[in-house]
Amino acid sequence: MSALQSSLSRDTAWELLRQYNKDPFHLQHALTVEGVMRWYANDLGHGDEAEFWGIVGLLHDIDFEEYPDQHCIKAPELLRSGGADEALIHGVCSHGYELTVDVKPEHEMEKVLYAADELTGLIWAAAIIRPSKSVMDMEVKSVKKKYKAANFAAGCSREVIEKGAAMLGWELDMLIEKTILAMRSCEADINAFMEKLA
Ligand SMILES: [Fe+2]
Repeated sequence: MSALQSSLSRDTAWELLRQYNKDPFHLQHALTVEGVMRWYANDLGHGDEAEFWGIVGLLHDIDFEEYPDQHCIKAPELLRSGGADEALIHGVCSHGYELTVDVKPEHEMEKVLYAADELTGLIWAAAIIRPSKSVMDMEVKSVKKKYKAANFAAGCSREVIEKGAAMLGWELDMLIEKTILAMRSCEADINAFMEKLA
């Protein structure tokens, strides 16, 4: 099978995201999931698809800011209007599987997005309350402590994270460990970028 490539360039994808997302929190999350997805593509032996995995991550919540009640339902229309192809649209929508849509994660990239998206939010929430405000010194055991506290980052669904880990056939610890490494790989660049954007 040939490598999945995005029909949108990274610059076009960013412009498309900016049309529908203004909130710095949302932009930071989109950039983080992009970086995380790129890291996973390389880690899992799909380095030739890293751009595509990253762009799916960048655009995965495109409809959330303006259409929170139609999350993953409005996305195809927004993405198509920006020239996205069906593989990209399927990738984005599959992270709403059994939540808002019936689009099942099939591709490994889609399973990674499903598993890592909410976890990325939880790890970020845990990082910003640390003295370092960073994932660079974050360890699996401190994430697990927060993970087990149901009222911490309660919006990050543990059920989705665990379902995602099961789809990948991974233990939760492995998913957490890899996602911390993935977030470390892009934290500094994203912080610098967000500072310039402010
Ligand atoms: Fe997300």
